Amino acid sequence: MAKTAFIGLGVMGFPMAGHLTKGGHSVTVYNRTPAKADQWQAEYGGDAAPTPRQAAQGADFVFTCVGNDDDLRSVVLGEDGALSGMAGGAVFVDHTTASADVARELFEAARAKGIDAIDAPVSGGQAGAENGALTVMCGGEPAAFERAKPVIDCFARACRLMGPAGAGQLTKMVNQICIAGLVQGLSEGMNFGLKAGLDMTTVIDVISKGAAQSWQMDNRAQTMCDGKFDFGFAVDWMRKDLGIAIEEARRNGARLPVAALVDQFYAQVQARGGNRWDTSSLIQLLMND
Ligand SMILES: NC(=O)c1ccc[n+]([C@@H]2O[C@H](COP(=O)([O-])OP(=O)(O)OC[C@H]3O[C@@H](n4cnc5c(N)ncnc54)[C@H](OP(=O)(O)O)[C@@H]3O)[C@@H](O)[C@H]2O)c1
Repeated sequence: MAKTAFIGLGVMGFPMAGHLTKGGHSVTVYNRTPAKADQWQAEYGGDAAPTPRQAAQGADFVFTCVGNDDDLRSVVLGEDGALSGMAGGAVFVDHTTASADVARELFEAARAKGIDAIDAPVSGGQAGAENGALTVMCGGEPAAFERAKPVIDCFARACRLMGPAGAGQLTKMVNQICIAGLVQGLSEGMNFGLKAGLDMTTVIDVISKGAAQSWQMDNRAQTMCDGKFDFGFAVDWMRKDLGIAIEEARRNGARLPVAALVDQFYAQVQARGGNRWDTSSLIQLLMND
C-alpha cells in the first residue's frame, strides 16, 4: 500500500481522497480552507497537514485537484508547494482540468527534481467521484503511469495513458468541446418540444432509445425541462475549460465555431447569475427569450 497526499478537497477531491483510504492507502490531505480538511479527517480518518509541502513529505504519490492553472501553480510550486516536499522517485498526479502548457511546465519542474509527473484530468462529475467511477485521461511517461495507475484505479472506472505530458489535458479538451455543442443541441430539442406542447417525459423516454441518445440526454434532459439547474457541473468551470480549449485551438489551427459560440451563451448564463448552475442551464436562455 502506498503513502499518498491529496491536495484540494473540493467537490471532486474530497471523495477521491476518500477512495484512496478505502483502497488501503495512507492519505495526508491539505486544503486551503482547513475546515474542509477537518471534515475529511472526521469522515475518513487520515492525516491533515498545514501546507502542501508538509502534506507531500515522504509520499510515494501526491495528487492535486484544484481549480485552474494559477491555483495549481500556487499549491505545487514555491517554498510551501508540493514539489518542495517531495523526494526524487515519487510521482505527482494532477487531476485539475488545466492547460496543456501548465501540465508541461509542471512536468519539467518535477523532472528537474527527479520526480515523475502525470497530468490526469477526469470526467464523470461529482457522482463519478463519489462512486469511484471516474474516467481519467493521462499524459506523461509510460513507466510513471504504470506505477500510478493501480492507485488512481481506487476512484477510476477507466484510466488511460494518452501520450506525453499535456496529452491528458488535450484529451479533456476534446471531451469538453464535444459536450458544448451537444448540450446546446439538447437544449434546442427540449425547448422545441416544450413549445410544441409535447409530453417531454415521454419524448425523452422514446428518443433516448434511438440515435439521439447521449449521457446528457440520460442525465440532464428531464431536469432541463423541469428548469432545475442548482447542481452538477458549474457554468464557471465550463467557461474555464472552453477558454483553455479555444486558446489551444488558436495554436493548433483547429476551428471551433460551435464551441466558441456556446462559450458566449454560457457568458449570458453567467450574466443572469448562473455561475454555479449546471451546464444544462443553456436551455434557460431559450426558454426565457
Ligand atoms: N465538479 C465537477 O463535476 C468536475 C468534473 C470534472 C472535472 N472537474 C475539475 O476538477 C477541478 C476541481 O473541481 P471541483 O468541482 O472539485 O472544484 P471545487 O469544489 O471548487 O474545489 C476546488 C478545490 O481547490 C482548492 N483551491 C482552489 N484554488 C486554490 C488555491 N489558489 N490554493 C489552494 N487551493 C485552492 C479549493 O480550496 P478551498 O476549499 O479552500 O476553496 C478546493 O479544495 C476543476 O479543475 C474542475 O474543472 C470538476
